[in-house]
Amino acid sequence: MVRRSKITIVGAGMTGATTAHWCAAAELGDVVLFDVVEGLPQGKSLDLWEATPIAGADVRITGTCDWEATAGSDVVVITAGSPRKPGMSRRDLLAVNHRVVADVARRAVAVSPDAVFMVLTNPVDVMAYVVLRTTGLPPARVVGQAGVLDTTRFRAFVAGELNVSVQDVHALVLGGHGDSMVPLVRLCQVGGVPLTSLLPPESVERLVERTRNGGAEIVGLLKTASAFYAPGAALCEMLRAILRDQGRLLPAPAYLQGEYGLRGLYTGVPIILGAAGVRRVVEIPLEPDERAAFLRSAAEVRQAMAELPQES
Ligand code: APR
Repeated sequence: MVRRSKITIVGAGMTGATTAHWCAAAELGDVVLFDVVEGLPQGKSLDLWEATPIAGADVRITGTCDWEATAGSDVVVITAGSPRKPGMSRRDLLAVNHRVVADVARRAVAVSPDAVFMVLTNPVDVMAYVVLRTTGLPPARVVGQAGVLDTTRFRAFVAGELNVSVQDVHALVLGGHGDSMVPLVRLCQVGGVPLTSLLPPESVERLVERTRNGGAEIVGLLKTASAFYAPGAALCEMLRAILRDQGRLLPAPAYLQGEYGLRGLYTGVPIILGAAGVRRVVEIPLEPDERAAFLRSAAEVRQAMAELPQES
């Protein structure tokens, strides 16, 4: 008998529910939406499940406030926490979100000890480390989401600027999320053609800056919420890589154990993602300026990690 994959999404807020929507539409597996707010995950999941006949998707979407209902998940996605408010840096979120993330990780792993954990809650590099430390899982089974979002934003901006298909634009970013991301512009290609030969440097820089500020641009527009469609799509792309054992090469916060000369922290690097989680971290040669920016970004993650309370 074929068993459908089980995806638990912790946090039925904007991003969690949107991720469930993308996953259901892609028929990735049965989705359990979990939240502490009674009625929220149940209501959203019922609404979504009722749409599956139109979508032609044979998946069950259920909502719960009970950890038992999440037991035996193949993947646990953590979106629980507080979104970034206007004027708030990702760093400001650390204090608020670390308690929530440690608590949900502890409870989720107790009933899904074999799951791959995917972390979205910001500051993501630090929160992924909190999940690793709290669950005691092998590093391969705890991965963050950041680079796929930064990359899809950059790809959209490049495709818009050149008026070409988004499908032809490939890009890679390293380092921390948003402000401290390190875009590898020289590796960005449009249908195999280097971006640098299609756009003047000042245009490329403008698109890079827009990507760097992508999260803040949306917070500025929405005022009381942060982005959720593209973050949800990014999570869905990573979920597909895991649940279909695709072995996608994607940028994502992964735990470094000597790669790039760094050890004991999460930061955005190219990884190969499949059913077992992070199959491997891919090391690529960096230009001196890229390397310097990458190390600066990693240093910021380390600084934020040092602010974590010891007990979590
Ligand atoms: N357990 C489960 N769910 C929780 C918990 C908890 N301990 N604490 C909070 N939540 C839930 C909230 O009830 C809410 O439904 O997390 C959800 C968060 O949803 P939103 O507030 O809509 O936030 P969202 O825009 O989805 O962003 C989620 O992603 O961008 C990052 O860091 C940002 O923390 C934010 C996260």
